[in-house]
Amino acid sequence: MSGGKEPLLSARALVRELGEQMVTRALDDVDLEVYPGEFLALTGPSGSGKSTLLYLLSALDRPTSGDIWFGGSNITSMDDDRRAALRRERFGFVFQFHFLLPEFTSLENITIPLRHRGLPQNVADRRAKDALESLGIAELHGRRPHQLSGGQQQRVSIARAIAGKPNIVFADEPTGNLDSRSAEATIRIFEQLVADGMTLVMVTHEPAFAARARREVHLSDGRVYDNEATRPNVIIMR
Ligand SMILES: Nc1ncnc2c1ncn2[C@@H]1O[C@H](COP(=O)(O)OP(=O)(O)OP(=O)(O)O)[C@@H](O)[C@H]1O
Ligand SMILES: [Mg+2]
Repeated sequence: MSGGKEPLLSARALVRELGEQMVTRALDDVDLEVYPGEFLALTGPSGSGKSTLLYLLSALDRPTSGDIWFGGSNITSMDDDRRAALRRERFGFVFQFHFLLPEFTSLENITIPLRHRGLPQNVADRRAKDALESLGIAELHGRRPHQLSGGQQQRVSIARAIAGKPNIVFADEPTGNLDSRSAEATIRIFEQLVADGMTLVMVTHEPAFAARARREVHLSDGRVYDNEATRPNVIIMR
């Protein structure tokens, strides 16, 4: 399944408890590996812990117990600054809502986080233009979010995620707000990016989209089932 590669991310015995009076064990003893170049779908019913797991893996949240390694470093024990740097420099994010800044153009929405990382303006501009181009929306660079369709907004947010050249992209229901054509287009874009070498972890409710991943990890009541190649015939060794 891994093609003999080292995992990019490994999670061991993850537990996440949430809530104050009524504590919910949102994740209960989860082990998971994410390999470089794979397209992994996280599935399961509402409340099964998919977002919780994605937030832990992507250093947006910390586990109650358990450990997560990224490229040999234990990210659970890192301080907040190092985790923020990791998110900025190594991870890309795509959510159900696009979170584009309303007063800025598509291009600026992509360059602003790159400038934050210290890239010079000309490099940030070049990367943003390349990302927009690769998603087929180069001509939308000067538009603000309210001048874009939902599908176009989501493409810009994907362009923003990939312009940082992340090691791994985390997507939580990226098609959740889209009509079926835009949703299909988004999945095609992800498939192409994975074919080009990107690593993707995507939460989805849609069985048809999960079926396009190379591996599906199914959650139920905070536990992982089928944490194996669920469709070995479509696993591609890279
Ligand atoms: N801040 C919180 N306080 C208390 N419980 C929470 C909190 N956030 C999530 N939970 C609970 O943790 C469990 C897992 O939630 P999570 O958001 O990970 O589910 P999900 O699989 O992403 O669901 P959905 O498909 O609806 O997005 C649920 O039982 C949820 O009610
Ligand atoms: Mg969720």
